[in-house]
Amino acid sequence: MSREDQQNVGPDSGSGKLPVGYTFRAADTEDLHGIVAVLEPFVQNEVLLRRSEAEISNLIGTGFVAVHQADAEAHVVGFCSVEIYSKKLAEILSLAVAGQHQGHGIGGLLVQKCIALAKAKGVMEVMAISSSEQFLHSLGFDYTLPHQKRALFYPLRDRAEFNDLK
Ligand SMILES: CC(C)(COP(=O)(O)OP(=O)(O)OC[C@H]1O[C@@H](n2cnc3c(N)ncnc32)[C@H](O)[C@@H]1OP(=O)(O)O)[C@@H](O)C(=O)NCCC(=O)NCCS
Repeated sequence: MSREDQQNVGPDSGSGKLPVGYTFRAADTEDLHGIVAVLEPFVQNEVLLRRSEAEISNLIGTGFVAVHQADAEAHVVGFCSVEIYSKKLAEILSLAVAGQHQGHGIGGLLVQKCIALAKAKGVMEVMAISSSEQFLHSLGFDYTLPHQKRALFYPLRDRAEFNDLK
């Protein structure tokens, strides 16, 4: 997939104001280890699914990072990607903000960037699966038909097995 749309999602896309001290940009392959470090505590706590480095590398192509600048060091402190399945549907994946950086609007901004990218690609709807329903509601996500529709999943293969085969 071309990275042009991803790069064109500007620094302030979908946001009112940027949290001070943080920059937001398209994720890059060089961010891989920083992204893995952000995701890992949530994977350990079973809040997020474990993904292989190859899978995360794929997500980087349609993902965004939040970077915190402290002294001379810049660290990835947040990540979010959007997997575009078709013109009808895209999904928010691997969203995480490192614990001490939460509550500054970073997660919301990363999601908005993913939404902006899906919109630029002409996608009709973006879905997200989360235990933080309130967080998604605050960003404008809702059930397609309120109180009537829920997404149900029928597992065909174990996820660990899928990662091995990929
Ligand atoms: C969910 C997560 C990404 C939010 O990141 P964040 O940078 O703290 O989020 P923001 O500061 O942008 O918060 C946006 C809104 O969601 C709310 N919110 C944030 N985390 C929340 C949570 N866990 N439960 C309920 N509401 C939450 C905030 O209060 C805020 O609402 P407001 O704008 O009305 O004040 C972060 O808590 C995280 O990394 N969680 C673990 C990983 C995870 O659950 N990923 C899947 C999420 S879909």
